[in-house]
Amino acid sequence: MTLDLPPAGLAAERLSLGYAERPVIAELSLALPRGELTAILGPNGCGKSTLLRAMARLLAPSAGRVLLDGEDIHRRDTRALARELAILPQSPIAPEGITVADLVKRGRTPWRGPFTPWRDEDASACADALAAVQMSAFADRPIGELSGGQRQRAWIALVLAQSAPLLLLDEPTTYLDLVHQIEVLALLRRRNREAGLTVVSVLHDLNLAARFSDRLVLLGRDGLVATGSPWEVLTPAHLQTAFGLAARVDPDPVTGTPMVIPL
Ligand SMILES: Nc1ncnc2c1ncn2[C@@H]1O[C@H](COP(=O)(O)OP(=O)(O)OP(=O)(O)O)[C@@H](O)[C@H]1O
Ligand SMILES: [Mg+2]
Repeated sequence: MTLDLPPAGLAAERLSLGYAERPVIAELSLALPRGELTAILGPNGCGKSTLLRAMARLLAPSAGRVLLDGEDIHRRDTRALARELAILPQSPIAPEGITVADLVKRGRTPWRGPFTPWRDEDASACADALAAVQMSAFADRPIGELSGGQRQRAWIALVLAQSAPLLLLDEPTTYLDLVHQIEVLALLRRRNREAGLTVVSVLHDLNLAARFSDRLVLLGRDGLVATGSPWEVLTPAHLQTAFGLAARVDPDPVTGTPMVIPL
């Protein structure tokens, strides 16, 4: 007898997404297994954020389903889902005057009841998250008084403090200098290796995405162009289809991963 276990991870099943009369994604099917780092790539406006929001249940599909471990995500209880999955939206908005520490504490909400006292595990999750993005020294500063990159790292700390095994990150490296971009991606890779963290990020830097991802999902104006390993996805033909970009793809001399050189 064969056991028909549901596939572990996130999946889109003939997923169609859009806003009112504007269709954005049509009949997309994808499987993003647990334990992998996936990057979603594609030109501005092709629907990357829309897809990520639908996978976090922030947007209801017009057709099709998002599955988490084989089960329709819309069937999950909200609190249970927030323990399973954390999302960093593209342009998050912080409450006026909130400090970094108080923002990050909000990540603990799914683990706490209305009367739960602040526990050691909550404090250590927040402290770990701030330290992971080198923001401990900024804990008492209001978010509104930080630089763009510091603010972005505070938001990443919030998502880390949520202690979910699956992260959906919309452009986590925007506003970051190159060193901090690499530090954030390396941190995600480390947590992936050490704790099996699954991460789906929208990224614009194709070469960093190739370095730090197991799987790429390349979208174009007309939907999915390619998905697979970085070498399967980042071909000149796919880059031409997705971006209208003429490019050469050579092995990165340091990592051997594909390196896109626009022509
Ligand atoms: N709230 C909304 N209401 C109506 N249309 C929207 C809304 N959000 C996005 N869109 C439209 O949906 C399409 C896809 O937008 P989306 O934000 O998913 O693109 P993206 O791939 O994330 O782009 P970018 O790289 O610029 O972040 C765009 O045409 C956009 O104008
Ligand atoms: Mg976007």
